[in-house]
Amino acid sequence: MYAQMIKSEATEDDPQRLAEFQARIDAGEKIEPKDWMPEGYRKTLIRQIGQHAHSEIVGQLPEGNWITRAPTLERKTNLLAKVQDEAGHGLYLYCAAETLGVSRDEMTEMLLDGRMKYSSIFNYPTLTWADMGAVGWLVDGAAIMNQVPLQRTSYGPYARSMVRICKEESFHQRQGFHIMMAMVKGTEAQKRMAQDALNRMWFPALMMFGPSDKDSVHSSQSMAWKIKMNTNDELRQKFVDETKPQADYLGLTIPDENLKWNEETGHYDYTEPDWNEFFEVIKGNGPCNADRIEARQKAWNEGAWVRDAMMAHAEKKRGAKANGAAQ
Ligand code: 3HC
Repeated sequence: MYAQMIKSEATEDDPQRLAEFQARIDAGEKIEPKDWMPEGYRKTLIRQIGQHAHSEIVGQLPEGNWITRAPTLERKTNLLAKVQDEAGHGLYLYCAAETLGVSRDEMTEMLLDGRMKYSSIFNYPTLTWADMGAVGWLVDGAAIMNQVPLQRTSYGPYARSMVRICKEESFHQRQGFHIMMAMVKGTEAQKRMAQDALNRMWFPALMMFGPSDKDSVHSSQSMAWKIKMNTNDELRQKFVDETKPQADYLGLTIPDENLKWNEETGHYDYTEPDWNEFFEVIKGNGPCNADRIEARQKAWNEGAWVRDAMMAHAEKKRGAKANGAAQ
């Protein structure tokens, strides 16, 4: 189905319809599942929403890793709730993508065979408890920075799913910051752990916003369609500007000697991440890519009987209903 949609892309879009569609977008109207849309718009949304959904699901792995080792019952319940929220986000987003004519099974298969991506950040390991603080603070913080504007994205189901997701991500960011606050007020060793987590997570967090604008393939068309509301660099800058005072409050040092306030621009100057590393990670060569895909593959294989049982049950119910109607 997805392959057929891609094939028909060039044939369906006549200039008149495209102009009318663009006028709706420019007027700030929401596009809904049954509305006509260019195939490129549909395909871009499937790519972005699907990738986003996969990120929420794969993103459970580095944190799930710490549930049994959280230091207190309260931290454990908070982390458990957060990881469950991420599963919920993945499900809303898969549902939003399904309204575009792709099934969740197809998206999962594309994730497993490498045709679809998930966020680069989840290919880094979470080595200490302080990483749970840094992930909440920086990773969920970066996710919110990117996702708040997406509440105004042009595709109705995506925009609506973002409203609830952003509320929950905001709780996640705070629980991460709270962990960091506890660590920096703790022993010298705990403070060192917090600094070490920041040192390792800072540049991968900056990479979450995607390549620099000059290398972003999709930004200009996605912004014209209001699928994206900001460029990658705009959001990255906003994240740096908001996060630096938070690091100062914690008494931690962002691992970037060039991070300085620039009076002229009214923003912090900062060092860009190592883009070679980023492209290697999204090609599958990051520290944890193989583990993440292996874990998803295992879950997919082991869940096959559940999917089969549910399909059989639905089939049986449909049969019973049809028989009832015939009598
Ligand atoms: N990780 C993996 N791949 C990335 C990436 C990242 N951080 N940033 C960019 N890419 C990929 C793109 O998918 C594209 O590859 P493709 O053509 O094969 O799909 C390529 O790099 C070029 O990048 P572009 O800038 O042209 O791509 P986009 O216009 O799609 O912009 C984006 C990238 C800013 C991430 C955009 O897709 C987006 O805003 N997505 C929605 C938000 C999202 O997916 N967030 C996931 C964050 S994690 C999360 O929310 C979980 C929470 O629990 C923390």
